[in-house]
Amino acid sequence: METHKIAEARRNIKAAGLSDLVRILHGDGLETLRLVEAPVDLLFLDGRKDLYLPILKLLKSKLRPGAAILSDNIRSFRRDVTPFLEYVRLGSNGFVSSTINISDGIELSVFPNGGDH
Ligand SMILES: C[S@@+](CC[C@H](N)C(=O)[O-])C[C@H]1O[C@@H](n2cnc3c(N)ncnc32)[C@H](O)[C@@H]1O
Repeated sequence: METHKIAEARRNIKAAGLSDLVRILHGDGLETLRLVEAPVDLLFLDGRKDLYLPILKLLKSKLRPGAAILSDNIRSFRRDVTPFLEYVRLGSNGFVSSTINISDGIELSVFPNGGDH
């Protein structure tokens, strides 16, 4: 969403020789992530904490079986991430999920069966 971060990301991606493989979607993730095609193997959530759940729901039907979701700041933003945590930890939504005690908590959620659940 932030122009200066996009410029820096482009520099880093180019320095790593990955420009041909990376597509940057500039803008509000709630809009741009609609453009992502299935299958999604890995989703890293580290933007606005209250958007973890809306973004997961936006991409859920595109997750491949076994997809992993890594979500940062689970302890420091506990209140904001609570709806997300409740969702991924309720088995009936199709995820298996647990917090890894690295830094201030990273939630690892795995979607064993993929697609719509
Ligand atoms: C805690 S920072 C960490 C992001 C990244 N790991 C980094 O180091 O830049 C959160 C970022 O999420 C971005 N962000 C928040 N809401 C967003 C949205 N709806 N769409 C896209 N980016 C968003 C913010 O602009 C901010 O740069």
